[in-house]
Amino acid sequence: MPRGPLGRGLLQVLLLLLLLPPPALPGAPEGPGAAEEPGSAWLWRGLQRLPERLKAAGALSRRYWALFSCRVWPGDCEEAEAAATPPGWSLPVLGQQYLEILATWYCSVQACCDTGDCRISNNYTGLDSDLSGRLHGQHLARELVLRTVKGYLEVPRPDKALALSFHGWSGTGKNFVARMLAENLYRDGQRSACVRMLIATIHFPHPKYVDLYKEQLMAQIRETQQRCRQTLFIFDEAEKLHPELLELLGPHLERRAPGDARAGPPRSIFVFLSNLGGNVINELVLEWLQAGRAREEITAEQLEPQLRAEVAASTDSGFGASRLVKENLIDAFVPFLPLEFGHVRLCARDAFLSQGLAYTEEALDSIARLMVYVPKEGQRFSAQGCKSVSQRIHYFLP
Ligand SMILES: *[C@@H]1O[C@H](CO)[C@@H](O)[C@H](O)[C@H]1NC(C)=O
Repeated sequence: MPRGPLGRGLLQVLLLLLLLPPPALPGAPEGPGAAEEPGSAWLWRGLQRLPERLKAAGALSRRYWALFSCRVWPGDCEEAEAAATPPGWSLPVLGQQYLEILATWYCSVQACCDTGDCRISNNYTGLDSDLSGRLHGQHLARELVLRTVKGYLEVPRPDKALALSFHGWSGTGKNFVARMLAENLYRDGQRSACVRMLIATIHFPHPKYVDLYKEQLMAQIRETQQRCRQTLFIFDEAEKLHPELLELLGPHLERRAPGDARAGPPRSIFVFLSNLGGNVINELVLEWLQAGRAREEITAEQLEPQLRAEVAASTDSGFGASRLVKENLIDAFVPFLPLEFGHVRLCARDAFLSQGLAYTEEALDSIARLMVYVPKEGQRFSAQGCKSVSQRIHYFLP
């Protein structure tokens, strides 16, 4: 409800009214002789001081507003803090109490806040429309992600976390889908305090610090789960995660014993992104196309066993050998298929549209032709998928 501009405006006015310092009554005697002042004079003096007063009240209410919205929508915090913090400004105790009461009231109406629940949107319509409209060439991922995520979030009492593993070449949309999940499950998207995106080579780059990373990862998972009743953890470059970090994740993905409340929040989604198994997916799609069949006819049942076997057999990464794979802690292996010329064109079209730019069919062709296609004979698949297509459109403005 009061999340739109109107709701916010109303709240702001409410805050202003509540927090205005009580006006000094113009009729109150201010000293000996004040009582003799003619009525018109004190009214005049009061009017003269009005702009000054309003200004002070305005600054005050902005500050209160910043603190209030910080408390209720932690995602907005940094901006709000930066927007209105005059140096040396401190909040009167009375104001703080008002704020507390107001935030509590607001949260009780919204059924939210401490847990961050008011920021959970779980917009399946939005997820469906993003997966169908903005993701190209991935009928299996679209179907699997929507079905598993929706199914999981609608179970009243899930007894485990949901673990999804996305596989495919770079540029095929793994990251894109992970972001769609964040954006449609949380109002603040990736900025949400309930979402953690961890990239192996950025957050855990040096094997010699693995002990430190383990502590950090544990703490991050714990804190996020304490804060939110529904959490989303995304591990990018999962094939590069240290085996000990993967080991650490095991207990979080295991099934909880009935009645065991130890594991904290009822819902966690873990998503692993990797290029493992990309080749096996591509070979299968290639064979399929060479046999003259449509890629949309490939079913998850045909692809998943081979993908799972390939991932488990991969020796150049800890992921396949980890408990997550060996002990079937991954709920779904989601294949991202290699993209063809027509898909790259669609990515280029989306890039033009999202920036509000006009495009021509020739421009789309030219951009799609810039990609390298493999295998050598046939040249069916874009080796980089749709990667960096959006940066290339500027050379082709009509
Ligand atoms: C869900 O997403 C759709 C499509 O993006 C959007 O139109 C709709 O307003 C969203 N609903 C909510 C409740 O946010």
